[in-house]
Amino acid sequence: MTAPVATAAAATDRATGPMLEVDHVSVRFGSQQVLRDITLSIGAAETVVILGESGCGKTVLLKTLIGLVKPSAGEIRFEGKSLTRLSDRQLAQLRTRYGFVFQGAALFDSLSIFENIAFPLREHTRIPESQVSAIVEDLLAEVGLPRSAAAKKPVQLSGGMRKRAGLARALALEPPVVLYDEPTTGLDPIMSDVINELILRVSHRGGVTSVVVTHDMHTARKVADRIVMLYPLFRLGPTDSQIVFEGTPAELERCRDPRIRQFVEGRAGNRLTELRDEQERAAAATTAATTDGEEAEAPGDES
Ligand SMILES: Nc1ncnc2c1ncn2[C@@H]1O[C@H](COP(=O)(O)OP(=O)(O)O)[C@@H](O)[C@H]1O
Ligand SMILES: [Mg+2]
Repeated sequence: MTAPVATAAAATDRATGPMLEVDHVSVRFGSQQVLRDITLSIGAAETVVILGESGCGKTVLLKTLIGLVKPSAGEIRFEGKSLTRLSDRQLAQLRTRYGFVFQGAALFDSLSIFENIAFPLREHTRIPESQVSAIVEDLLAEVGLPRSAAAKKPVQLSGGMRKRAGLARALALEPPVVLYDEPTTGLDPIMSDVINELILRVSHRGGVTSVVVTHDMHTARKVADRIVMLYPLFRLGPTDSQIVFEGTPAELERCRDPRIRQFVEGRAGNRLTELRDEQERAAAATTAATTDGEEAEAPGDES
């Protein structure tokens, strides 16, 4: 494995400690708190996988890392610099140092694959067009896309090809940090593993720091140096840590915490009953709201 070598080299280069720090970060949207007191340190060239069930706040956490979501408490630091102290312009500048592989690829539909991948180069650099073409060709090859894909529109490609085009675009500016949001969702197992291999390859090449948000255990086992598992806040007591696990993939397999075993083994537990109860509560609330008015018909009323 080349990872430890790359880690040491990158760490010596910067010699300044962690690449990314999440320091006691909380996020709320109106009355809903999504993240509570998250503290996490991500080293240069490390690959951290953020695991957790839908809705627990994984995407929100990724967005706070690039300053798209502002924490209601705590701060994010990139190479020791706090994002909260940056102006909008400095923040935009900093974002060019991140590659972001969005859930669902998020390519521009009206642009060709070539134009999509060239976009960050044209937008943020003065690289001459002749070189732009060469870089795009290299990126296509790197993610295993044929040259013929360059002229196509995103809609003409399969899901797996679109994800790889999204990755090529994210890598265009050779970012030191790459963030992946559910990179394998919606792909068949083989294409998922192609993406996992690409994540590994990118992280080993030049000591890229990677943060991978997923609920895919195959991805977690394969790419993670370290796994962090988040739990939905509403399932926790007021003093419980929202990070319910932090450790290596091997440590995750050995962890006996029932919350973690349920996720790792993909068991529904009593979730079906809970979902039904939630639906019933919601229906009851709707009924109460409508019968507040005059002669509203309650759904499910026997008549
Ligand atoms: N911009 C927003 N405004 C209000 N609520 C949001 C916003 N973004 C996310 N949320 C809420 O935060 C919670 C966590 O969302 P998210 O981070 O997308 O979950 P996931 O772990 O599935 O990625 C959800 O309840 C979602 O509705
Ligand atoms: Mg998400």
